[in-house]
Amino acid sequence: LIPVIAIDGPSASGKGTVAQRVADALGFHYLDSGAIYRLTALAAQQQGVGWQDEAGVAAVAAGLDVVFDGALILLGGMDVSEAIRSEQIGVGASVVAALPAVRAALLARQQAFAQLPGLVADGRDMGAVVFPHAPLKVFLTATAEARAERRYKQLLGRGEAADLAAITADLQARDERDRNRAVAPLQQLPDAELLETTQLGIEEAVAQVLAWWQS
Ligand code: CDP
Repeated sequence: LIPVIAIDGPSASGKGTVAQRVADALGFHYLDSGAIYRLTALAAQQQGVGWQDEAGVAAVAAGLDVVFDGALILLGGMDVSEAIRSEQIGVGASVVAALPAVRAALLARQQAFAQLPGLVADGRDMGAVVFPHAPLKVFLTATAEARAERRYKQLLGRGEAADLAAITADLQARDERDRNRAVAPLQQLPDAELLETTQLGIEEAVAQVLAWWQS
């Protein structure tokens, strides 16, 4: 059996950074499942398929031509590592992620990341749906204010225009969609460890996950 650490939580909680560092520390593979939803939204846009068109987007998802090469993400041979990180594509990702046929089309693609020596999987439904037998599940979160602040700095760091009030409103809308959708809603599972990071630095959060893994 392949060891999997599932790290789920809301937008901009910092779980991507933490998950990536835990994977590096253990020499495990890393799955950024949000990137796969972002790629699906971007590919649909490129192909002129509306984000609400369930059958159309599911077909796009099934046919995604993606290569993950370290930090580099290629879609149809083009480097889209930056393009998928925009706020607009983030919104698209959360719209297509609410469509059951799209999630079904992406399931096997995500599960294929589970390879020796192990995997750290980051998302919303890693512990509930994609890797329900993961021996360690973590629910990583922070207050909406702390998360908005993190996203704001992230966007500024990339030279994107950013407005804290707009980001806060968008985060709340996205959380609402992620929590209340019919399929794979974001939830805190009873068998997940809770990691509240509002007052926690990245190093401390990573150390906590590693401590749970080693115990
Ligand atoms: O960067 P941020 O945390 O906002 O989002 P992300 O992790 O890149 O994921 C983008 C969107 O994809 C989220 O808002 C979710 O709606 C959706 N998603 C999902 O439904 N299931 C996952 N396993 C990962 C992401």
